[in-house]
Amino acid sequence: MSGTAPRPVGVPGSVGIVGAGRIGSALARLARRAGLSVTVAGSGSLERTAAAIALGSPGARAGSLDDAAAADVVILAIPLGRYAALAPEALAGRLVVDAMNYWWETDGARPDLDDPLTSTSETVQRHLSASRVVKALNHMSLYELDNLAFPAGHPERRGAAIAGDDPDDVAAVAALVDALGFDPVPAGALADGVRFEPGTEAFGADEDAEEIRDMLDRFWGSQRGRVLRRARGRA
Ligand SMILES: NC(=O)c1ccc[n+]([C@@H]2O[C@H](COP(=O)([O-])OP(=O)(O)OC[C@H]3O[C@@H](n4cnc5c(N)ncnc54)[C@H](OP(=O)(O)O)[C@@H]3O)[C@@H](O)[C@H]2O)c1
Repeated sequence: MSGTAPRPVGVPGSVGIVGAGRIGSALARLARRAGLSVTVAGSGSLERTAAAIALGSPGARAGSLDDAAAADVVILAIPLGRYAALAPEALAGRLVVDAMNYWWETDGARPDLDDPLTSTSETVQRHLSASRVVKALNHMSLYELDNLAFPAGHPERRGAAIAGDDPDDVAAVAALVDALGFDPVPAGALADGVRFEPGTEAFGADEDAEEIRDMLDRFWGSQRGRVLRRARGRA
């Protein structure tokens, strides 16, 4: 017995995670608990990455970006400001989950990541032009990932928004999110990712699926939504 749960049909068997920091380690932990094979690619040597994940994410292995990219789904968990360092060719043809956010304290002033005319995941998709990018898991707090993952049907289960342009890719990521312990909430196309970026009601909300859905629906009437609408109206 491995001690991990059986894997429902449709759930990816393996996950690659790029970034061995707080979110990368938390996601590695959750994915291992769900019975998935996990490879984490960090920023330094394999030894350094292995040390970073050894305690908190037992069973996850350290690998190169190519190793992580060989998984069924690759999750990006690095500072968004560093996205251009990701080699597009390594992730070509892969299903990539963008769990990153523009955080000016970390990323500095970056007009390219604060452009009201585009979602940050569309910017990542343009860089990784040969990958299929889906936005998910970015609006969950570290606390939520670590403490509020529950099996399907649990009354305390939280919702996780998912935006992507291809329905099959969104479905694959929904199966992963469900396996990790959250109710998937389809949130439209990649452009709709603006509805759960930092500064929105859904960001860090830590609520059930129905409430997350309502927050996404309210977005264009919110202050941030009105700012984006005005900017887009002028463009
Ligand atoms: N913290 C949260 O609550 C939260 C929640 C949801 C989403 N997010 C998003 O998740 C991302 C990571 O956040 P975090 O809190 O986990 O940050 P973090 O603790 O600083 O971890 C980021 C990790 O990414 C590594 N890294 C940087 N460039 C890399 C590259 N090219 N390849 C591989 N690894 C690389 C960093 O290594 P070095 O230290 O060596 O540079 C660091 O270990 C951010 O975009 C953030 O907005 C955060």
